[in-house]
Amino acid sequence: MRISKLYFFVLVFIASNNFAQSLQWTQVAPGVWKGIVGKPEDYDLLKASGAVMNKGALTKLGNVLFPLVQSDIKAIVRDHKTYLTFPLDKAEQIFGFGLNFQTVHQRGKILELHVDNFAGKDNGRTHAPTPFYVSSKGYGVFINAARYIKVYAGTAVRKDSKNPPVAQDRNLDKSWTSRPYSDAVEMLVPADGVELYLFGGPTALDAVRRYNLFNGGGCLPPRWGLGFTQRVQRLYNSEQVEKEAKDFEDKGYPLDFIGLEPGWQSKSYPCTFEWDKTRFPNPQQFVNNMLSKGVRLNLWTNPYVSKESPIYKSISPYTGSHTVWVGEVPDLSLPEARKIFFGQLKKDQINLGVSGYKFDEVDGGDQYLWPDVATFPSGHTAEQMRQTYGLLIMRYSTQVFHDMNKRTFGLVRANNGGGASFPYVIYNDYYNHEDFITALINSGFAGVLWTPEVRASKTGEEWLRRFQSNVFSPMAMINAWSSGTKPWTFPEVAEQVKEFATLRMQMMPYWYTEFAKYHFEGTPPFRAMNLEPGFQTDLGIKKLEANKNLEENPYEEAASKEIKDQYMAGEYLLVAPMFTGQTSRKVILPKGKWYDFYTGEFAGDGQVITVTPGLNKIPVYVKDGGIIPMMPPLLHAPKAGQKVDLEIRHYGEKPGHYLLYDDDGETFNYEKEDYSFREIRTEKRNGQWGGSISAPQRGKPNSIGNVTWKFMTK
Ligand code: GAL
Repeated sequence: MRISKLYFFVLVFIASNNFAQSLQWTQVAPGVWKGIVGKPEDYDLLKASGAVMNKGALTKLGNVLFPLVQSDIKAIVRDHKTYLTFPLDKAEQIFGFGLNFQTVHQRGKILELHVDNFAGKDNGRTHAPTPFYVSSKGYGVFINAARYIKVYAGTAVRKDSKNPPVAQDRNLDKSWTSRPYSDAVEMLVPADGVELYLFGGPTALDAVRRYNLFNGGGCLPPRWGLGFTQRVQRLYNSEQVEKEAKDFEDKGYPLDFIGLEPGWQSKSYPCTFEWDKTRFPNPQQFVNNMLSKGVRLNLWTNPYVSKESPIYKSISPYTGSHTVWVGEVPDLSLPEARKIFFGQLKKDQINLGVSGYKFDEVDGGDQYLWPDVATFPSGHTAEQMRQTYGLLIMRYSTQVFHDMNKRTFGLVRANNGGGASFPYVIYNDYYNHEDFITALINSGFAGVLWTPEVRASKTGEEWLRRFQSNVFSPMAMINAWSSGTKPWTFPEVAEQVKEFATLRMQMMPYWYTEFAKYHFEGTPPFRAMNLEPGFQTDLGIKKLEANKNLEENPYEEAASKEIKDQYMAGEYLLVAPMFTGQTSRKVILPKGKWYDFYTGEFAGDGQVITVTPGLNKIPVYVKDGGIIPMMPPLLHAPKAGQKVDLEIRHYGEKPGHYLLYDDDGETFNYEKEDYSFREIRTEKRNGQWGGSISAPQRGKPNSIGNVTWKFMTK
């Protein structure tokens, strides 16, 4: 009797240690399920970001069934780690796992999701290692853990696999492979439990939308954020900055904000967070002068506190055990540290009229950032702080502007899951044009924004090519902190650069509306072709370009069809950048008719075309029925209350329908429903195209002046 009792006890013990713990799923919104296993940690990505889901918008997307077979998702907690297994089908492709620079397809990859600067290889260490992936089958998975997560994205073969590969004899079988087929995504989270989320579709784009809305929706930048921005050389003084703004004006180049690099501060690396009085003797006067020219200011900083900073003494008790460039690291998860840190920025700069920040160096690398053995007064581990520092700095800086009812739009070098709603764009020091475009594609899977910034170039051709793609990105920017370049630096292409900077301004009503969709509907403004309905890669093209990762991806077939050099910009535009040295390229047009953006001519339908656009053009195509609202080529974004005329362009044969977003462009009043969507319709009647726009809504901001129509396709 006693023996059998003991036997039973041992059996139960073994079972609880070796078999999948039950994952508890609850639906938290239409198409969104929360799973819990073990004991999730108190501090996670969603706690750090404070993201609040937009339940109304999720409800509008409608309900769907749980997208996987629940028993196919397995979880075990063992040895203070959570082991997760998700099923993968044969034909399934997966995307995401953060801001990758070289690969869009993630199936077959092994990654460790770790906030870091990108060091030239997609291995999980990146500026936004968002633990979210989306499947071509139309669902998404998010792991809400502020931990370094190990990912085996369809690489390992389980004994209990439902579709195990057949063993092959290497001696005689030529089809033997060192990497047999795997039917699972597996993850290791170093924690005693974890909270995870599953997002339904039905399409992959719907799953991404649900993920973004679950994060509160994407950010809505101020209108001026979507204009052009120049970052000046690091030691510029106030006179030089004012002269720079004047040069832009005199030469007729648009400019909405100027970024000041480290030299605006009295000391940097570590930082003082106060103006350098030799270069900026009268900051208030300087900010006023700039604002009177219609140019706002964005200030670079890293968060590491110099002993010479006025906040050093007060913030020191709330900093971590290790320094970064001998500067102390504020524990921004503590209210005391935040009050002092953001209080200084507000008092010294924001109250003067500064419009935003570039928060540098909150990503990595290991050689200079705090090590994993560092401790923080909040008790959060160094690893948790590493994974969330970008979230914290974005969240609480946005709060300062929010409290003043002013929108901001800035730059940051780290983001993570939960951060979609923050008005910050990621950038880095890497400078490969092709990889910059792949990052832009992947940003749409990660709930982040990315700018392929322009810094320097060897030739006018390279300068123009980089500039052209930058204009079709979330932030049109030259970062001349080191190079001192200007848009007109290469005289042989100065006019073309001006033309594209001007085009950026003209397209502002389109960009602004597409960002409103990011905010209200969760649709990423810049995204992969793979999210586009009608997009197929099996159009008979073998390999569009050399795939650097081919040798490490066993799914050769899938990898060879990876499209990482063309993307969607807003609802209607397909952008296919040209790279230095290229005179022609292939473009895949999804099913449905596509038209040339510049001429309105028919370009193709569900086919691969080869284009030779010349140096003056970046190939851009418009979907059939596409509406592109344009404004006059102003040098600065329209201010709150300013009316601008619209030229509404229509492309193709289908009638057009577009909801044009409008609000004051500068405040958070849109959160109180102080906005409108004006309905635009175009149709052909008796062989004649005509258009209509709904009347402005009474009591809502109205920035639209006269409307003219341009039917681009003859
Ligand atoms: C780098 C940053 C550059 C520039 C520079 C100034 O970390 O990526 O864009 O701001 O610092 O020192």
